[in-house]
Amino acid sequence: MHSTSNTPVFMVACLLGVCVVLMGAHGTPHGVALSKHAGKKPHAYLLLNHSIPETPHIRSYSNSSLSPWAYNISHEDDRFPADIFNAYCLHTGCLTIKGEETQDLLSTPIKRQILVLRKKADRKGENYFMLDYMTITVGCTCVRPHVQQH
Ligand SMILES: *[C@@H]1O[C@H](CO)[C@@H](O)[C@H](O)[C@H]1NC(C)=O
Ligand SMILES: *[C@@H]1O[C@H](CO)[C@@H](O)[C@H](O)[C@H]1NC(C)=O
Ligand SMILES: *[C@@H]1O[C@H](CO)[C@@H](O)[C@H](O)[C@H]1NC(C)=O
Repeated sequence: MHSTSNTPVFMVACLLGVCVVLMGAHGTPHGVALSKHAGKKPHAYLLLNHSIPETPHIRSYSNSSLSPWAYNISHEDDRFPADIFNAYCLHTGCLTIKGEETQDLLSTPIKRQILVLRKKADRKGENYFMLDYMTITVGCTCVRPHVQQH
């Protein structure tokens, strides 16, 4: 789907817990300016901060929602982040306030695209990271059926 010709290619060197992604074959960081030379891949470098900032307490509505959901963990060693939570709806219909399922409404996944880094190896066996899109499900919501017959 995505053209690979303009996909940024990164090489990573890890120092003091901070990964410096060096650009191109010469390995010299050139800031984030992108090379616009014809036929060349855009070059920039990327700093990966491995220290995870404290996350504020976020209330989960996964169980109290009328379209409740649970999570599966997607794990890939060669991806950053390696673990990603993916929600899935627990019912096809929605729950009433009494907790009974009704098929008049539909539990529907809410999806969004995120960016991840994927570790790859080039023909020489050198590792690089590719910035890639991934579609994840963050939760479910309750919707009216799309087609209604009267
Ligand atoms: C990395 O992230 C931590 C926590 O968010 C922050 O305190 C620190 O300053 C960051 N390091 C750099 C080099 O930006
Ligand atoms: C939701 O329910 C599951 C199973 O009953 C439980 O393991 C989980 O801790 C609950 N989550 C929240 C946020 O209450
Ligand atoms: C999530 O994991 C559960 C248990 O392994 C499985 O039954 C379910 O099909 C998975 N759902 C999705 C959407 O991958």
